[in-house]
Amino acid sequence: DAMRIIRTTDYDDMSRKAANVISAQVILKPTSVLGLATGTTPLGAYRQLARWCERGDVDFSQVSTYNLDEYRGLSHEDVQSYHHFMRVNFFDHVNIDLANTHVPDGSNPNVRAACAAYDHMVAAAGYPDLQLLGIGRNGHIGFNEPDSVFSKGTHLVNLTESTIKANSRLFDSPDDVPRQAYTMGVQAIMYARGVLVIASGRDKAKAVRGMCLGPVDPQCPASILQLHTNCVVIADEAALSLC
Ligand code: GLP
Repeated sequence: DAMRIIRTTDYDDMSRKAANVISAQVILKPTSVLGLATGTTPLGAYRQLARWCERGDVDFSQVSTYNLDEYRGLSHEDVQSYHHFMRVNFFDHVNIDLANTHVPDGSNPNVRAACAAYDHMVAAAGYPDLQLLGIGRNGHIGFNEPDSVFSKGTHLVNLTESTIKANSRLFDSPDDVPRQAYTMGVQAIMYARGVLVIASGRDKAKAVRGMCLGPVDPQCPASILQLHTNCVVIADEAALSLC
């Protein structure tokens, strides 16, 4: 199949190799549009990129970014919002212009307006040159949860119990985890010129197997990436242990 799989020894090795792919993209095209992801998986790559940026090895001053998703009902300032997460874990540590960073507006209660506005922005930007993705334990990408269909545009999702539980480690209690989120659909991801999926750890092994080897099925949303012509998976041995 078309997916290229790069096996790494561990999380740090995965993070460094992913940061290499992202910095190569930005060095070759300084005005790159990057699709970015939250979660704990990209943190090492973000840290590495911050170090290289500080040294002057990579320059984000002309880069623009579009994040995949945001919890519905959280303001940009909420410390649990993905807006906040991206600032604290990446944007504040590189020379990116905050005006060029975009995250779905979780504070907009008007579902149709919030989703349409985001789709419009991503399309106007020409879709990502490179889309970075983590993967959920159930095979979700962004917050595209297992479903009977793939959703095309940005949409409102009801998070599954397993995702709420998995993400509750970043909240004081599971009750604090928002039950809904706005997420990009698969269109913007599949329109990206390149996709980089990163995965680490044994608890991702089943999802990684479904993504790489399972049928293309919305029950494992990441499996659609098998149809992308330029998709690289960088995963450690534990995450690849069922492949
Ligand atoms: C979250 C995010 C995804 C992320 C996934 C895995 O729900 N919405 O974008 O890829 O879960 O998270 P982690 O990297 O922390 O395992």
